[in-house]
Amino acid sequence: MNLLTFDSHEKLHESGASIITGLVQTNPRAVLGLATGGTPVGIYEEIVKSYQRGVVRFNQATSFNLDEYVGLPEEHAESYRNYMNTHLFNHIDLPRSQAHIPDGNSADPVEECKRYDELLLTAGQIDLQLLGLGHNGHIGFNEPDHALISGTHVVELREETRKANARFFDSMDQVPTHALTMGVGTILKAKMILLVVKGADKAEIVHRALTGPITTDCPASLLQTHPHLVVLLDSEAGRLLA
Ligand code: F6R
Repeated sequence: MNLLTFDSHEKLHESGASIITGLVQTNPRAVLGLATGGTPVGIYEEIVKSYQRGVVRFNQATSFNLDEYVGLPEEHAESYRNYMNTHLFNHIDLPRSQAHIPDGNSADPVEECKRYDELLLTAGQIDLQLLGLGHNGHIGFNEPDHALISGTHVVELREETRKANARFFDSMDQVPTHALTMGVGTILKAKMILLVVKGADKAEIVHRALTGPITTDCPASLLQTHPHLVVLLDSEAGRLLA
């Protein structure tokens, strides 16, 4: 594991963005696994700046998002499709046909998960998977459980996850109860994983995920087994690591 701690968010965002743009510069056909949530917003801003400076192009790249809420219209402000458009896709030259997100409005969500896994298979291995970390140790929307699922699947969101995400909605009852998520098998198959965590409220789970036992009770602890894990933390999130 390669762990970097930053004393400023600016430097953390620049570092995360340069890892991603560096990969696409050397491999323009890179397959990127992307995340949503509060954590990667600053990284996407820096990627857009690099694109605008002409440093990198995404026209041959492919992306797969980790997850999507079930039942939120695509144009809803909090759908992950809308998030990706707003923060990244509207500002770079990644063709939309190459930017994949599970369809949370599919009439047959189980079939949609199969379709997503087939697309992933056709694309080959994900070159870099960007991840945030949930307070309960979730990655993607793989919530703590007695067993974890390898491929894309429908998940019922834990109450604590819905509460954490309620900050983006007008009220808790508007937060979807279900999501489609890539499974941990797919995440762990990525050639490189870039885990980014910020904030004092994540210090405990960072400590548990990176130094505690490897257990499905903390899905992020499985990342300890990955041969190419890069972790970017702000000093608050990294405060409990020796
Ligand atoms: C988002 C995702 C989630 C988030 C996690 C942290 O696509 O898969 O695992 O990364 O919930 O969210 P933030 O960054 O909002 O704290």
